[in-house]
Amino acid sequence: MMSGLGMRSPRTGALLWLLVTVMAIGSGLQKNSVVVDGALGVNWGTISNNPLPPGYVAQMLRASNLTKVKIFDSDYSVIRSMAGEDIEVMVAAPNDLLAELASDPSVAVDWVTQNITQFLFTPGGVNIKWVAVGNEPFLTAYNNSYVNTTFPALQNMQNALNQAGHSEVRAVIPFNADVMANNGSLPSTSSFKSEYLPQLRQILSLLNSTGAPFIVNLYPFISAFQANGNFPIEYAFFDGTTPVTDGNYIYYNELDASYDSLVVALAAEGYPNMPIVLGEVGWPTDGTALANNSLAQKFNQELVDHFLSGKGTPRRPGIELEGYLFSLLDEDAKSVAPGPFERHWGIYYYDGTAKYQLNLAGPNLNVLNTLVNAVNPPYMAPMYCVLASGNIDSTNLTENTNYACTYADCTDLLTGGSCSNLTTEAMASYAFNSYFQAQNQNPAACDFQSLAQTTTQDPSQGTCKFNIGLQHFSPSSASRSFIVFSFLPLLISAFVTSILLVST
Ligand SMILES: *[C@@H]1O[C@H](CO)[C@@H](O)[C@H](O)[C@H]1NC(C)=O
Ligand SMILES: *[C@@H]1O[C@H](CO)[C@@H](O)[C@H](O)[C@H]1NC(C)=O
Ligand SMILES: *[C@@H]1O[C@H](CO)[C@@H](O)[C@H](O)[C@H]1NC(C)=O
Ligand SMILES: *[C@@H]1O[C@H](CO)[C@@H](O)[C@H](O)[C@H]1NC(C)=O
Ligand SMILES: *[C@@H]1O[C@H](CO)[C@@H](O)[C@H](O)[C@H]1NC(C)=O
Ligand SMILES: *[C@@H]1O[C@H](CO)[C@@H](O)[C@H](O)[C@H]1NC(C)=O
Ligand SMILES: *[C@@H]1O[C@H](CO)[C@@H](O)[C@H](O)[C@H]1NC(C)=O
Ligand SMILES: *[C@@H]1O[C@H](CO)[C@@H](O)[C@H](O)[C@H]1NC(C)=O
Ligand SMILES: *[C@@H]1O[C@H](CO)[C@@H](O)[C@H](O)[C@H]1NC(C)=O
Repeated sequence: MMSGLGMRSPRTGALLWLLVTVMAIGSGLQKNSVVVDGALGVNWGTISNNPLPPGYVAQMLRASNLTKVKIFDSDYSVIRSMAGEDIEVMVAAPNDLLAELASDPSVAVDWVTQNITQFLFTPGGVNIKWVAVGNEPFLTAYNNSYVNTTFPALQNMQNALNQAGHSEVRAVIPFNADVMANNGSLPSTSSFKSEYLPQLRQILSLLNSTGAPFIVNLYPFISAFQANGNFPIEYAFFDGTTPVTDGNYIYYNELDASYDSLVVALAAEGYPNMPIVLGEVGWPTDGTALANNSLAQKFNQELVDHFLSGKGTPRRPGIELEGYLFSLLDEDAKSVAPGPFERHWGIYYYDGTAKYQLNLAGPNLNVLNTLVNAVNPPYMAPMYCVLASGNIDSTNLTENTNYACTYADCTDLLTGGSCSNLTTEAMASYAFNSYFQAQNQNPAACDFQSLAQTTTQDPSQGTCKFNIGLQHFSPSSASRSFIVFSFLPLLISAFVTSILLVST
């Protein structure tokens, strides 16, 4: 348990595969490697009802000196916003493209032409450096759906990049930590799962030949969340006092142990020096007790300091670790299958306001590199929807609250969340407002059988913040709305259950 792999478990990951949000691990091996450069990146997802438009995000990244981003598709509006920026970009071909990419090299050629080549002009183009082929394709919950197509897709993608004259762009694969089998809890007992070895050996050989890193997503938070109190919480952080001893190696935190588990697994396959990048790593801030701003700030600051300290891990000492924080912004339309915290991973709230301070310069006390907020985010009118005042018939209050929470985000209301202490009536207001904003403040969306009314007065109280949504912005990816809607049945049952629990 102590040095578990910090991954989204098959159980919580059961539906994650559809909506995949990946976090890659930043690999930082040899400092002299031409491919891996050590700076800290951030994952930028857009599964929100009204996401912060890319232009605002670009300005925010630039002002904050965040120089590496990882996205989950090849959304043109997002990629275009990175044009002319000194920001390295990882774009992605999602899992549902793997079969096609694998079956026909010309599909990869077209994909590269349409999603890469047109952005690589100089000067003023986009600094695309990586193409993620799939996202956690070997996740147990996918039932091996992608195991046989991942390698050929990777190969066709890299060949297409090379043919187009972009061999400096590397095709990579962000893996979930469950590609590893930890027999017991110690890194020294780690290996890749034997059932994936035939495919992994082909993949490793190709990655090695292009100098690409092995990308893995690690989540100490999820280990702590799933252990439900049976996990020594300090082991999730970097000031651990109870070390785990593995032969000559001593571990004070789960992240190092998971990282070194991968080092051991790679070495067993003949790649003791393959660079490792953390594709996703972070700590959420709402929806459950362990998720709050102070713990997230602690984890992320200690993570940044640890990465940039150059201490490395016990098995790879003296290197700067590399990875992508998960994530940049909260995403209020993500599936909550992994847990109610899933919409709250951002270091920024949905509107580009930093949740807490983070010094991205790392442990060098003479340098302060802070998070800069988005400038004048495009809010809708300062209008909220709340429970009507005066005499109301509250017979249908629960049903209406549940309805709102089925289609909008109410995870703040759950036990341990920032709005969990509201009265049933205030929770109804929160739910109505969340729905009203998600519906772009459509007046018809503030009725709820006459239980609701609009107001310009901010109903926020204590830690519970009522939001004003952002003006509608439609990313150019058609797949986004498909993803949101395909999850409706799941969201409905999840919310009905949880809200009923909350309000009793
Ligand atoms: C990327 O390339 C594919 C295949 O050529 C194409 O269908 C798709 O529209 C392109 N754009 C995006 C945003 O994926
Ligand atoms: C995987 O298999 C399990 C058990 O057979 C099934 O319940 C689940 O729906 C499957 N998931 C996918 C993604 O096919
Ligand atoms: C993958 O390919 C192997 C070897 O051809 C085959 O035995 C296996 O059934 C395939 N797995 C899936 C999930 O298609
Ligand atoms: C796990 O470790 C135990 C002893 O530590 C050993 O007997 C067993 O064979 C190992 N299992 C695997 C799958 O490596
Ligand atoms: C990995 O690549 C390096 C450099 O090209 C090469 O020397 C080494 O033999 C490769 N390793 C394996 C296991 O193929
Ligand atoms: C954050 O969560 C931890 C663990 O549940 C708790 O001890 C701490 O008081 C919380 N901090 C705040 C500011 O709520
Ligand atoms: C970004 O880096 C520049 C130059 O290194 C520095 O002057 C500036 O203060 C940094 N910005 C922030 C927000 O820390
Ligand atoms: C409660 O909902 C039912 C079913 O939609 C409806 O018939 C009834 O009029 C509602 N009651 C009130 C007081 O709105
Ligand atoms: C809610 O109330 C409980 C019990 O009084 C308290 O421990 C907790 O900190 C409160 N949570 C918030 C978010 O105010």
